[in-house]
Amino acid sequence: MTDVIRVSPDNPDPAAIARAAECLRAGGLVAFPTETVYGLGVHALDRAALRRLFAAKQRPATDPLIVHVAAFESLGPLVASVPDAARALASRFWPGPLTLVLPRSAAVPDEVTAGLPSVAIRVPSHPVARALIAAAGIPVAAPSANLFSRPSPTQASHVLEDLNGRIDLIVDGGPTTIGVESTVLDLSRGTPTVLRPGAVTIEMLREILPRVELSGSPPTGDARMPSPGMLEKHYSPRAPLTLFEGRANAVLQALITAARAARAEGKVVGIIAADDDHGALTTLGERDPRVLLRTIGAEAAVETIASRLYASLRELDAAGADVILVRGFPAEHGLGVAVQDRLRRAAAGRIVIV
Ligand code: TXA
Ligand code: MG
Repeated sequence: MTDVIRVSPDNPDPAAIARAAECLRAGGLVAFPTETVYGLGVHALDRAALRRLFAAKQRPATDPLIVHVAAFESLGPLVASVPDAARALASRFWPGPLTLVLPRSAAVPDEVTAGLPSVAIRVPSHPVARALIAAAGIPVAAPSANLFSRPSPTQASHVLEDLNGRIDLIVDGGPTTIGVESTVLDLSRGTPTVLRPGAVTIEMLREILPRVELSGSPPTGDARMPSPGMLEKHYSPRAPLTLFEGRANAVLQALITAARAARAEGKVVGIIAADDDHGALTTLGERDPRVLLRTIGAEAAVETIASRLYASLRELDAAGADVILVRGFPAEHGLGVAVQDRLRRAAAGRIVIV
């Protein structure tokens, strides 16, 4: 069975951290909070433990893991070289929600890198994650602590929902603050490229590295031609999710029309929108039990929207939504780019552009 230990997010009890650290050193699977989402930690150099982690998450072995370390100085044994760009970015953004993909050393098992010549590394800033990694004294590989293709967990109850009985321990440090996974920046070949947008935004990266490019999700305005990776089911609720993008008024009208059509078919309709949309959406009937409305923050408050996004997807699943309709949020810059990326992936091609 999976044990849960509660700790203070700011000042975790050293005895609790010591127990979790010992479990990691012994090859156990330990979920813990980071500033982005909960990670499922495992000894990054223990091949048998790594294989148990892939089995517990039902994750394909072709998907590489991020190695979490306590400080920049811990990179040495894991990488073949440290590019100057990595040094500059680390001194500005570590500890924090930035993952760097670097040329790997021979010490990193293929289970971590999925056989790639590179390894992804980050230094998380959450006090619980920092204390745990420091106490363990080992590099900790940690994917998000969800079953493969489910939304990442932003609170301990999400981890239990997916992994109860499949992992050893959950360190419950309350809800995470950022709510979407770290920015992944590839520095291992050619032009530095953002493989996954996150809270360290492209604008912030360009202040240090002007040449950074964005890949992985279609650029804004070109959503009709998703790149192949976008069609992959990922970050998804159980109910099929449709994303509505375009001009704000037209988006709400299209979403309301789709909600009415689904309701007419007898479906329970989950809706994710901004606080600002509440008035327009009341036309669907506030008391109708077949309409589950979640407004997850003001349109302008992208940090709030990001922090509540995954929990709202899980809530709508748990409440029995047959379909989920989501309005696109402003995505021109900043964290909005990451929110749009996760929603497009969750939609797995079901994107309506109006
Ligand atoms: O915020 C986060 O990054 C969270 C917390 C727990 O740290 N972790 C996380 O891990 O989101 P995961 O496994 O769910 O996502 C890791 C991402 C994947 O998209 C994977 O493809 C990419 O990092 N990645 C890992 N190693 C890579 C490599 N060598 N080259 C390119 N991409 C890599
Ligand atoms: Mg993940």
